[in-house]
Amino acid sequence: MAMRLDHGGHLTHGSPVSVTGQWFEISSYGCDENDMLNYDKIREQALEFKPDVLVCGYTAYPGVIDFEKFGAIAREVGAISLADVSHIAGLIAGGAHPSPYPHMDVVSFTTHKTLRGPRAAIILAKDAEIMDKIDKAVFPGLQGGPHFNTIAAIGVALGEAARDDFKAYSHQTVANAKKLAEELKIRGHHVVSGTTQNHLLLLDVRKSHKMPGKRVAVALEEVGIVLNFNTVPNASDRQKPLFPDGIRMGTPCITTRGMKEADMVKVASLIDRTINNIKTGKIADNETFWKNIDETRNITSAVKELATSFPTFAW
Ligand SMILES: Cc1ncc(COP(=O)(O)O)c(C=O)c1O
Repeated sequence: MAMRLDHGGHLTHGSPVSVTGQWFEISSYGCDENDMLNYDKIREQALEFKPDVLVCGYTAYPGVIDFEKFGAIAREVGAISLADVSHIAGLIAGGAHPSPYPHMDVVSFTTHKTLRGPRAAIILAKDAEIMDKIDKAVFPGLQGGPHFNTIAAIGVALGEAARDDFKAYSHQTVANAKKLAEELKIRGHHVVSGTTQNHLLLLDVRKSHKMPGKRVAVALEEVGIVLNFNTVPNASDRQKPLFPDGIRMGTPCITTRGMKEADMVKVASLIDRTINNIKTGKIADNETFWKNIDETRNITSAVKELATSFPTFAW
């Protein structure tokens, strides 16, 4: 039992197009009408479905996860609790999100998102029997030989995550995301759930600007702002996985480059100007989606100027 894909769950949490949806019988839960998890409803569903594994941890959820509640529901229904904290691993390491460890049987995470390490993953379990089964499923079940270069890089990433400056980075990441959400809201954008409590936020651009998310993501990339189009909960009936109503953005990279809350005002303004420069309605294949190409050029220069004042490398 895990979160449905279009409400922020991951493909590997039981989507029918993933082997996880083909090998296992899945019951998916979603967000409520406020775009947030509803633990009473999840508990009711779990009591009825009686899952073997109850999964929390998401790809596009801007709230804090109450691991204590998930752990209690899992114990009540006799399920193994699994938190896939890929997205928030760095926030947990830096103390900017509560830890799943006291409450979960299994904790898994990729090491290349907020944890800022190499493309890899870690799986931890408290119970020796469960850990043994996972170890065997990984090797020889699914994986070939170990990649020692990646393992060494994980060591470096975990070493960095234990430092005080990583704590500052993870707290600043959340502060920046909150400020960005607030500034976008002031400018009339529909922030999913009204705010964010972590490193990412979602805009429902169909609701605010009557546009598809993909058009907005492509336009933003053209001016130098890279984010992705994404499904949003409680969307219009036009939303499809590859044709979603929203966009998703995160603050870890720009925070790593040194941006603070005051810079989020500039980022929000550039996103807002870009979106307001995109045509609504149907656009022919050979037609540009820009309303005003001079404005596009001005925004692109402003994005470049802001980005170059926060270089990727400080040396
Ligand atoms: C919750 C969650 N789990 C697992 C993954 C898998 O990560 P990747 O596809 O980068 O290996 C992701 C990636 O978005 C994720 O969000």
